[in-house]
Amino acid sequence: MAENTTNPYAGNPLAGRDCLRLLDLSPEEARLVLDTAAKQKAEWKDGIYVRPYDGKAVAVILEKPSMRTRNSFDVGITRLGAHSIIMSDDHSAFSRGETVKDTTLVLERFVDAIVIRTFAQSKVEEIAKWASIPVVNALTDDYHPCQVLADLLTIEEHLGKLSDLTMAYVGDGNNMANTYLEGGALTGMNVRVATPEGYEPDAKNLEECQKGAATTGSELTVMRDPIEAVTGADIIVTDTWTSMGEEEEHDRRLRDFQGFQVNSELMSHAKDSAIFMHCLPAHRGEEVTDEVMDGSRSVIYDEAENRLHAQKALLSLLMA
Ligand code: CP
Ligand code: NVA
Repeated sequence: MAENTTNPYAGNPLAGRDCLRLLDLSPEEARLVLDTAAKQKAEWKDGIYVRPYDGKAVAVILEKPSMRTRNSFDVGITRLGAHSIIMSDDHSAFSRGETVKDTTLVLERFVDAIVIRTFAQSKVEEIAKWASIPVVNALTDDYHPCQVLADLLTIEEHLGKLSDLTMAYVGDGNNMANTYLEGGALTGMNVRVATPEGYEPDAKNLEECQKGAATTGSELTVMRDPIEAVTGADIIVTDTWTSMGEEEEHDRRLRDFQGFQVNSELMSHAKDSAIFMHCLPAHRGEEVTDEVMDGSRSVIYDEAENRLHAQKALLSLLMA
């Protein structure tokens, strides 16, 4: 096959790698993704772009519902010149009892990268174990790396830096909380997570993040009091109290999370310059009020747009 000599990403340190969780990246590699995304975003707005993956294909397998992830990957892959195969029904990927090994080894004969949203992180890891092509986690029960890359890009756009800022995450210690802790560890951003008792983020991940944070200087703390978390913070963030797959627990969670809503009163404890973020979909009136979602500090739609730019950059680098 003729070598694609026009690929500007050839030879980058992420070429051929996976992104199963953010700690798969070093601080320098996370910086490379964010800088690539910012550059591609600015150039796209000026009508400048490259299509380095002309003729290639990416499988996007969605075993949970999705709006943002599905559409942002589809558009990003198209802008790179590649074809996206979205598999979101029950009949096209891992649904007929075929082993993960067989499905992966067949799929990689057709496509050049696999993007997967599923329940267990171990499934993503197993796909990556068999695949010789890049595998990207598009959300599991444990992590959502693509979302947090987009969020880091958004914070830099609005606040000009990451290092030395403080993010306060208020709510469920879920996949988003776990991944923000990783994002902090990689970038020098302090992350405070406030949850009710029994809903703390994963302890093993926290320990790994704290080890990683030793090199970047970020402080990562888990606490109980939302006001303590938010006081003086630069970024206030929350997520649904009932993640996909937990729907039967909704009523209990509504009770358990009382006092953890991000509303104007809670926002008043943050810095005057603080921004509000939410990965969406939001449950307005539960974890956050309309007033905060629609207020002047909210950057939720920029954050959603940046899914496209962050993932396009990530694929640009991994697929090289
Ligand atoms: N934030 C996010 O991942 O949205 P979707 O579930 O709509 O993909
Ligand atoms: N914590 C949420 C994130 C959705 C993007 C979930 O897993 O459903």
